[in-house]
Amino acid sequence: MESSPKQLPNPDDTSRPGVYVKTFGCQMNEYDSEKMLALLAKSYRPVQAPEDAELVIVNTCSVREKGEHKLFSLLGSLAELKRTRPELVIGVGGCVAQQEGQQILKRNRAVDFVVGTHNLSLIPSLVNGAREGIAPQVAIDYREEWEELPDEFDAVPLLDPHEANDRTRFGLHLTPVRALVAIQRGCDKMCSYCVVPNTRGKQVSRALEEIVKEVRLKVRLGAKEVLLLGQTVNSYGIDLQPRVRFETLIRKLAEIDGLHRIRFTAPHPAEVRPAFIELYGDVPQLCPHIHLPLQSGSDRILKLMNRNYRRERYLEIVRSLRERLPSLAVTADIIVGFPTETEEDFQDTLAVMQQVRYNSTYSFKYSERPHTAAREQFSSADQVPPEVAHDRLLRLQALQDSLSEETNAGWRGQVVEVLVEGPNKTISSWMRGRIPQNTLVELVQLDEALPNPVAGELVHARIVHSSPYGLRGELCRSEENASPLDAANGVEGRASV
Ligand code: 5AD
Ligand code: SF4
Repeated sequence: MESSPKQLPNPDDTSRPGVYVKTFGCQMNEYDSEKMLALLAKSYRPVQAPEDAELVIVNTCSVREKGEHKLFSLLGSLAELKRTRPELVIGVGGCVAQQEGQQILKRNRAVDFVVGTHNLSLIPSLVNGAREGIAPQVAIDYREEWEELPDEFDAVPLLDPHEANDRTRFGLHLTPVRALVAIQRGCDKMCSYCVVPNTRGKQVSRALEEIVKEVRLKVRLGAKEVLLLGQTVNSYGIDLQPRVRFETLIRKLAEIDGLHRIRFTAPHPAEVRPAFIELYGDVPQLCPHIHLPLQSGSDRILKLMNRNYRRERYLEIVRSLRERLPSLAVTADIIVGFPTETEEDFQDTLAVMQQVRYNSTYSFKYSERPHTAAREQFSSADQVPPEVAHDRLLRLQALQDSLSEETNAGWRGQVVEVLVEGPNKTISSWMRGRIPQNTLVELVQLDEALPNPVAGELVHARIVHSSPYGLRGELCRSEENASPLDAANGVEGRASV
């Protein structure tokens, strides 16, 4: 039996002090930030700026060197703020915290506590300690088991910093339309460039029942979509006793009433098995979109990266998925300028991009990280000069823009299903949402007589404009909704709410 949600804290209640959480990096960090806010929700209300806060937590990322720079520059300005308001409590969490621990306290004396990625449950007591004036504390113990947060956490709404305000404006509670839910932490792969196995430890999968419980709760609090998070989601469960398969988890989640869309990020190409491919087109709630990191299209570089697949295998996976689901959108992460990468290697990457015709890609310049194999293995002579790496990044992004432009133009004139997420960021009288393929849509309301859709609604829109970065659609009247095009786009049989 599930308990009913407890009284939700009122976000406008200014009697509680303010907490501001600044998140750098990936969605796993965003998820951890939500947990921090939820753990503190009884005594702190979230605010939108450090100036309005009595507690600031910086949740850091160390995947690339830039993340560390951002942390220390933000800590510099927070230290200034603390000079005018000495009671301000400053905490640092996330990967840099896990990796640097004590060093952070040495580099910036304004910091009151450092909390690692395995110790989130200690945050309330670290904050209390700081308020009582005890010496700066460091909690970065590595845990092999999953750290489930206390039970009362489940009854507290999760506050998404981007969405909370939008949604309260519509009188809805605070769970965002898209709920982030972690299913595993750490990683057993040893990609030679990557700091994650060092900062987040080896793979620990979360119990299936706990995941189902959290998704159910978030659906009850208003989520319509779940984005499952993990470093290699398709190896979920191999460390559990008894072993649980990723596919079992997805099929279990598909049984949850009111959950319209399931997404996950990111699977690892070397772990893709037939049962994984069969999920596509078989589980109606599973969105026709896969984020499948490529990293490089050159076999030589993939080998040096220790990625355990080659270009042909990657392309074969995409082909099999598209055979099952022709409307599938594919996105990827790509690194340019890995040590020893030649123009020819780079051309191989561009060639894979042309073959896959990615909907979008996240592209990065290689950044040398501490404690990684690539750092040990390559000398300075092997490094790609920064201007060459930069030029490759620009060329890659130009190619991606032209691919995205073409793909997005293909949606013009079609009627698509949009899950409304909230008001548009720039024109707030318009709403915005996503199609199942994950492309963003700005929704234009042509007919004044129609009620404005609210966050969480599934609506239909006719696409009237496209750019490399998204779509614009006119809301359809309800009689236009049953468009046969939906079936072709992989949203057949999905109920509107
Ligand atoms: N340098 C550049 N990009 C990196 N990534 C991970 N480590 C590095 C690094 N050292 C990228 C990969 C990964 C994404 C989250 O970040 O593309 O998929
Ligand atoms: Fe890093 Fe590779 Fe693990 Fe991804 S799969 S987290 S890139 S080691």
